[in-house]
Amino acid sequence: MVKFTVQLLHLSSLLLLAYYCAPTRAANGCVELDRLNFDRIVQRFRYTLVKFDVAFPFGAQHEAFTGFAQEAAESIGDLLFALVGIKDYGDKENSDLGKRFKIPEKYPVIKLFNNQSLESYIDYPEDNPVTIADLRKFVRENTDLYIGLAGCVMEADELAARFADPANSKPHLESLIDETQTLHDSIQSETDRISLQIYLTLMKKMASSSNKPIHEFITAEKQRVQGLLKGKISDKKKADLYLRLNIMESFKPLSNTDNVRKNDEL
Ligand SMILES: *[C@@H]1O[C@H](CO)[C@@H](O)[C@H](O)[C@H]1NC(C)=O
Repeated sequence: MVKFTVQLLHLSSLLLLAYYCAPTRAANGCVELDRLNFDRIVQRFRYTLVKFDVAFPFGAQHEAFTGFAQEAAESIGDLLFALVGIKDYGDKENSDLGKRFKIPEKYPVIKLFNNQSLESYIDYPEDNPVTIADLRKFVRENTDLYIGLAGCVMEADELAARFADPANSKPHLESLIDETQTLHDSIQSETDRISLQIYLTLMKKMASSSNKPIHEFITAEKQRVQGLLKGKISDKKKADLYLRLNIMESFKPLSNTDNVRKNDEL
């Protein structure tokens, strides 16, 4: 019995050690929630994306979640990223939260909370892959937040979305180019101005090849850029091309959710 207790003590100190040392436990850009702080913290933010998972998560899905959190941390103020680590053994840490939100013992489970009502959350579809792109899409579709990609500029994304409307006439395209140019000229940040230059270049190319629908132009241009990325190019050039790919994502006509997004005051 004594020996058993000693072993248990040993085990728990090891776990304690793991708790403090495990690099995945405290992930950058995410907060950890438990029974005591869950409601208080989730209520403070308009939206919280919560991943219920094992106590020490690791692997591609965890990395996608924390990767998205880091990418969005600076740009999306009203969205909090949180982790709930559930132990189905030992001290059963957070299993009470697991019960409250009916989490099956099959992890991870991701839910989007809003601070109007903590019981009316939206489930991340179980069969959806957990990648940064899919998580981003899920948040885009289920909130009115502006979810930009790295290198994108919110006002320019709105112009790009309007530009991509297939009903635009040629003069309308030209006037949108003028608006984008004005935005470019008024912008203070050097990095934003570099991005704006890419929006402009793309818009001008699209306006001058007007017999090609914009979505076709974007598909072809993406393929071309992805081809260039496979070649031997400098890191600087590579970064430019990734920026270009992100910006091309913004050339999509507004959907209904995006209309809400457009009117958001963020
Ligand atoms: C929800 O979050 C927003 C933005 O952070 C805040 O202004 C508002 O007071 C919160 N609502 C509630 C009910 O706490």
